[in-house]
Amino acid sequence: MTTDPISYLPNIAIDGPAGAGKTTVAKDVAALLGYRHIDSGGMYRAVTLIAIESGFEPSDWNDDRRLLAVARGLDIDYREEAGETRIYLGGRDRTRDLRDPAVERWVSVVASVPEVRWALVDKQRSLARSGGVVMDGRDIGTCVLRDAPVKVFLTAAMPVRVMRRLMQKHCTGSPASWDEAASSVVERDRIDSTRSESPLRPARDAIMIDSTRMARCDVVSQIRFMVEGKIDRRSRVKR
Ligand code: CDP
Repeated sequence: MTTDPISYLPNIAIDGPAGAGKTTVAKDVAALLGYRHIDSGGMYRAVTLIAIESGFEPSDWNDDRRLLAVARGLDIDYREEAGETRIYLGGRDRTRDLRDPAVERWVSVVASVPEVRWALVDKQRSLARSGGVVMDGRDIGTCVLRDAPVKVFLTAAMPVRVMRRLMQKHCTGSPASWDEAASSVVERDRIDSTRSESPLRPARDAIMIDSTRMARCDVVSQIRFMVEGKIDRRSRVKR
């Protein structure tokens, strides 16, 4: 059991498969608690976007030193603007571009390159160093923030995840068919769960939340109660 001071703001790790609603929930939890939200997937998407724009061939990515250089030199900034987390690359807002179908198509391939992961994990850890961060991704509870006192593995039935992804695509102005959305979700889950480095899986101490039939606000409340429970327990330990 951790004995950090009561004034320490815990980090919260939220992992899960594509379309489970991690980023939406993480954003809401952060807003509710006054924490900082870090969408770690944004970093993998950013490296993918830059690689595509630089003309790197996906077939070379497994041993492409340039990909690692992009990850190491990534100039990424998460900014809260009008209740939204915007992602800036090199000082430019690229939030929308990070959801481009080409990025979606290749991001899991980029994310399976171990050296790229090591570089980005370092950046993720440094952003969470002072606590009070809600970070969502695939390996936050198992690797990036192994000591986070609150870990959630958020999932939902496949048709619900596909539906959420379709709605998100519609809202971001790049509508897709059901089959396209479904195959993208299935393929990314497959690559993410079978890669050798930090595959997608729940941490042993994660609480599983199946949001198939849950409203967004109920998922957020459940996580908030988990956080409050940890802080109370710590207070009792300290006295
Ligand atoms: O929002 P969605 O769940 O679709 O994906 P994301 O969080 O933006 O992550 C995009 C991709 O980045 C994932 O499919 C993974 O391949 C990779 N990723 C990862 O490997 N590890 C993380 N901590 C976060 C994302």
